[in-house]
Amino acid sequence: MDMKHGSERDGTGLILGIESSCDETAAAVVRRGRETLSNIVASQISTHALFGGVVPELASREHLRNIVPVVRAALEQAGVGFPDLDAIAVTRGPGLAGALLVGITYAKSLAFALGKPLIAVNHLEGHIHAVLLEDAGEGAMEAPGQYPILALVVSGGHTHLYLAELVGGSWRYRNVGRTVDDAAGEAFDKVAKLLGLPYPGGPWIDALAPYGNPKAVPFAFAQVKTKVKRGEAAPDEGALPRTLFSFSGIKTAVLRYVETHGMKPSIAARQAALGGMENPKAADAVALCDSQTLDLIASFQHAVVGDLLRKTFRAAEAAGANSLLVTGGVAANRELRVRFTAEAASRNVRIAFPSLALSTDNAAMIAAAAWPRFLAGDFAGYGLNAEPSLRLG
Ligand code: KG4
Ligand code: ZN
Repeated sequence: MDMKHGSERDGTGLILGIESSCDETAAAVVRRGRETLSNIVASQISTHALFGGVVPELASREHLRNIVPVVRAALEQAGVGFPDLDAIAVTRGPGLAGALLVGITYAKSLAFALGKPLIAVNHLEGHIHAVLLEDAGEGAMEAPGQYPILALVVSGGHTHLYLAELVGGSWRYRNVGRTVDDAAGEAFDKVAKLLGLPYPGGPWIDALAPYGNPKAVPFAFAQVKTKVKRGEAAPDEGALPRTLFSFSGIKTAVLRYVETHGMKPSIAARQAALGGMENPKAADAVALCDSQTLDLIASFQHAVVGDLLRKTFRAAEAAGANSLLVTGGVAANRELRVRFTAEAASRNVRIAFPSLALSTDNAAMIAAAAWPRFLAGDFAGYGLNAEPSLRLG
């Protein structure tokens, strides 16, 4: 593959990516969808932590404050200037409308002022490209013969399964699974909050789970069925079965467990103690949890990962996919990585995850997803708007 000598239209292949769909303001410079020259993320966690979740108005305000310094830092770290860029890529959705608008408006003005093309990227496609960006070399997922790839996008806002395929230089996606209620990351965050742990809860549960017994509380997942609504077409005969996830039941089950086991006073004490610390660490949280709480945390995580695993591998089998990629914030989870890797090995399925830095929201994934669109001349106009409920596939 020729990585160095681009055709004239390719320029040097430098794309500036901008991401502002939720609570991270991010900018990155990526060369030819492969080489990350810089990746800057300004997290708003401390702003939202006080409220136990993302507050949309505060997110927009923080994006406005951060966007210019974050883009400047991305260029500086990459050692390039605005004139060196070949295109500006930005997340168009899904996400918070006001948050998305900050990135889109800035990207549009930049593209206009510099006379460079503007590329609109779906955030979910970005998460998939976080893996493809790093997955190079022999047997890479982009190599012919690897398709279809099954992608599990599992984050605070999404639990989606896609079949992804590169056709004539463009990526095509087909949605084959989704959650009917909460996203998996949302369940991690809500259960953590319920147990008096800080926001966002996923990393805290990940850190505490190894101290508990994952078999202590037997959480069960029911088979999810959706009714075909009146006026809606029934699924095609012969169509791939859709995988449905549901994570609101387990959150309620944890709440019920907490109530019936009289855990509320110790949870309030833990929340107050951790809330009073400047920068609480996992060890502080472990010290504030009794074995019953640690068992509950371990059992919750074990059940969620088990459900994601069973349904994802079943979907891979149904679709005849021999390549699997798992991406999004929850893909940072250690138990998830270990169990998915082992299952993939036993089934002879190729599996890839993003590095930890690219698992959660970032702009390198946006710049990487923009590269095939740049090659195809698939540019956005200045009328580009935020699409908070944008779908993929
Ligand atoms: O991809 P992301 O940064 O933002 C969205 O697009 O939603 O994902 C954030 C989500 C949060 O729910 C967070 O708790 C979860 O990913 N998360 C984790 C871990 N790290 C982040 N969940 C479980 N284990 C982790 N290590
Ligand atoms: Zn995301």
